[in-house]
Amino acid sequence: MRVGFLTSGGDCQALNATMRGIAKTLYRNVPDVEIIGFIDGYKGLMYGNYKKLKPKDFVGILDQGGTILGSSRCPFKMMRVIEDGFDKVEAMKKTYYDLKLDALAVLGGNGSLKSANMLAQEGLNVIGLPKTIDNDTWGTDYTFGYQSAIDIATHYLDEIKTTAASHHRVMVIEVMGHKVGHICLSAGIASGCEIILIPEIPYDINEVAAAIKRRQAEGKTYTVIACAEGAISKEDALLKKKKYKEKVAARNGRSVVHEVAEELAQLCDAEIRVSCIGHAQRGGRPVPYDRMISTRFGIEGARLIMNRSFGRLVVLYHGEVGSIPLEDTAGKLDYVDVNGKIVENIRLMGVCLGDNPEAEEEARRIAKEKKKAKREKKTKEE
Ligand code: F6P
Repeated sequence: MRVGFLTSGGDCQALNATMRGIAKTLYRNVPDVEIIGFIDGYKGLMYGNYKKLKPKDFVGILDQGGTILGSSRCPFKMMRVIEDGFDKVEAMKKTYYDLKLDALAVLGGNGSLKSANMLAQEGLNVIGLPKTIDNDTWGTDYTFGYQSAIDIATHYLDEIKTTAASHHRVMVIEVMGHKVGHICLSAGIASGCEIILIPEIPYDINEVAAAIKRRQAEGKTYTVIACAEGAISKEDALLKKKKYKEKVAARNGRSVVHEVAEELAQLCDAEIRVSCIGHAQRGGRPVPYDRMISTRFGIEGARLIMNRSFGRLVVLYHGEVGSIPLEDTAGKLDYVDVNGKIVENIRLMGVCLGDNPEAEEEARRIAKEKKKAKREKKTKEE
């Protein structure tokens, strides 16, 4: 049996741990197995750039960050686009068949899993493993890398506190997560931030300023705001996608945290600084939880391969490792549940999420009553 591995998209912790889990299980249970590692993700598959891996390549990598294979971003929307006469999909299929692969394990996030699903639909024996610090893959409760990223982001938010306190400043900290707020919410809670801004809950800058003022009135001399890189204001959330994209482009590489800070400077009596944690959130060694879950994911991946159960994504569901069809997850994102228990509970504790649900509810109620009164008046007049 010959199995290909590739790690695609943004790297994260525990990619190596996951590959080790698959490899060890295959070596143990399939006597003649050969593992081929494609270099730099789908690019390696497209250009036939690979190396034959040996059991010793998987030794000592359980806690090693990054990926022994290298990674690259090959956007899904470009996969079927022929560039300079190069047909990427046909090239990948050719490499797969030339190498006489029996299976291909793709360790990737949302875009990479869409491509994996496409290859499965093209007839290749593909399995997916859910990789991303963002934890936004639909159909799994967990994507490996997430806990390690939370660990780093929390540590960063904790460290900022002492300097924020010394200078009595408001610090707006950018946390990764792409279009979702899982890392920001978790790290924000873990670090005790009283203001957390996530994409799923568009913020009103006046509410954020009011929360800072409340803290100041309570004698708290500094504030650390955990702000997701995808956080969005209520006004921007109303913009058409194209207009919003134009607005983001006009920021010239400066992210939403700068906008938040500039607006807060107009509304609050405080010195404000911004800081971005950045790619460090994807770096370094995986935390024990990621090593453990990735090992379990890897074993399940190997089981799928041994059972010839292809076109599936390994997932964690209610504490159990299992799998779902790749086509079920492709193209869907797993957002923070804004009506869920976590959000409900931290609101109860007084954490500001940049909105004011009670006031919004009250405004909706008043508007509804006004409408009703108008209708009744009209009926009476008729
Ligand atoms: O998907 C992981 C992630 O780290 C996101 O949180 C972030 O938006 C993005 O990748 C950054 O991508 P790049 O490494 O291409 O800058």
